[in-house]
Amino acid sequence: MTARTVERVVTGRPTSDGGGVRLTRVVSPEQGLDPFLLLDEFDSSTAGDYIAGFPAHPHRGFETVTYMLDGHMLHEDHLGNRGDLTPGAVQWMTAGRGIIHSEMPQQAAGRMRGFQLWINLPAAEKMQPARYRDLAPQEIPVVEVTGARVRVVAGRFEPLAPAAAPVAGPVGESRTAPLYLDVAIAEGAKLEFATPPGHRLLAYAFEGAPTVAGRVLAKGQLAILSAGSTVAIEGSGRAARVMVIGGAPLREPVVHYGPFVMNTEAEIRQAVSDYQSGRLTAAA
Ligand code: CO
Repeated sequence: MTARTVERVVTGRPTSDGGGVRLTRVVSPEQGLDPFLLLDEFDSSTAGDYIAGFPAHPHRGFETVTYMLDGHMLHEDHLGNRGDLTPGAVQWMTAGRGIIHSEMPQQAAGRMRGFQLWINLPAAEKMQPARYRDLAPQEIPVVEVTGARVRVVAGRFEPLAPAAAPVAGPVGESRTAPLYLDVAIAEGAKLEFATPPGHRLLAYAFEGAPTVAGRVLAKGQLAILSAGSTVAIEGSGRAARVMVIGGAPLREPVVHYGPFVMNTEAEIRQAVSDYQSGRLTAAA
């Protein structure tokens, strides 16, 4: 067992996307955090920051994971799926060869908070049919050990100290074998858990100031971790919450253009042309 250490700490930058939603971009494609392409955090109690939502737009070549913490959004796509995103709900969308969807706020006031993560797909799976999974809050297992409460969105959570039985989340079939944990840690508590050794591992502090692999993170900081098979999180000072995201790197060329992520420029040109001619979502 090798404990992971912090290689680098980065801070998200403010931007806007969709119809004009203010958000913080924590991970972007040019950082090369294979298999992760993007991590956005949105958090505002000002309706003007989120009310425009994300009107109909396409994706091809990767997966998007939306995790709501506060507020209410409605997902609709060209396949006829309608997903209610309420606090604690997760939307796991495999765009594959193409999906056209919208995510619109269902509230005119109050706090809207959550995350959207983009996970790349291997070349062999980029043109698979689109797939959508809507996970209600009660479908996400919650593991409570002394001083910590972990929601297991994807992958397998294996606590080593305090030790407890491993628990698998509801998602985990893709080649990147994603691990997605929402870890709440109490003041002074320490949690150590196993992580798949070959995985890229990221930890984002979104409440309080947790200590991740021995390094204190301020709220809004992302730790990029070294290789290893375990990681430790401590509630230094006060209660904190950390998003832990892991995935197997694909080690393939990445060409990103707006909502399309492929392996070559030619495939990007094809995606743009398919979208313009209404064939993005057509069966192969
Ligand atoms: Co989208």
